[in-house]
Amino acid sequence: MAPVGLLLLGGVLAAYLIFEAYRRRSRQGQEGAGEPEEEWDEVYRDTSPSALPWETGEPAEGLVEVLESGRVEKGRALDLGSGLGTQSLYLARMGFRVSGIDISPTAVEVANRRADLEGLDCYFIQGDVLELPYPDGSFSFVLDRGCFHHIPEDDRESYVRGVARVMKRGGMLYLECFSHRNGPGWNHFTPGQIEGYFSPHFRILSISDRTFTEPSTGHILHFLRVLMEKG
Ligand SMILES: C[S@@+](CC[C@H](N)C(=O)[O-])C[C@H]1O[C@@H](n2cnc3c(N)ncnc32)[C@H](O)[C@@H]1O
Repeated sequence: MAPVGLLLLGGVLAAYLIFEAYRRRSRQGQEGAGEPEEEWDEVYRDTSPSALPWETGEPAEGLVEVLESGRVEKGRALDLGSGLGTQSLYLARMGFRVSGIDISPTAVEVANRRADLEGLDCYFIQGDVLELPYPDGSFSFVLDRGCFHHIPEDDRESYVRGVARVMKRGGMLYLECFSHRNGPGWNHFTPGQIEGYFSPHFRILSISDRTFTEPSTGHILHFLRVLMEKG
């Protein structure tokens, strides 16, 4: 290869490496000091289930309401950031065939063990919700309880595109995320912001602002509960 070609290739490679380093740093700046997989796995390794702030051991009230509304077709469901699998197991008991994905290998192992014990149609894999390993149009129902608000700002549009890709047209997405009523924060959303991110692919059917009392700490947090239909 001519020296000019080599220089050009070197330049492109250097630019890519700088971009990657910047991307990693900006992810870290928003959540913590390390990689998300290590950080989340440490949480699950070091914390007993009863001390996890989001783990109630029960199906989430908002999810139960969505199912009871009859708006959701019982088919294949995906749980994004499925944690210990409590919500997925509920969906499976209600007759869904459930896939769960979580970045923490420890959480995935526990969730699969729980599903096996109950003999449920529910399978969990370790992975990043930004790189969903499912074919287009796989799911008629998708749940995100507390995962989207951990996605770095720069990756939110890609998250929405990826989720829309794996859903059937007319499928439903139910999201619970931190609300702006908790005060200013990089991941505290107004209904308008949620609409901005999701409306290119989804029709918002309802948004409400509810409080949730963390069982392990007694803290009261505001959450947006959003039901959307894939367009
Ligand atoms: C607040 S917890 C909620 C867990 C579960 N949805 C529940 O309601 O019990 C957030 C979960 O998202 C997972 N998570 C965070 N970022 C993720 C990513 N990029 N890809 C997959 N899972 C992720 C974490 O490991 C954690 O289990």
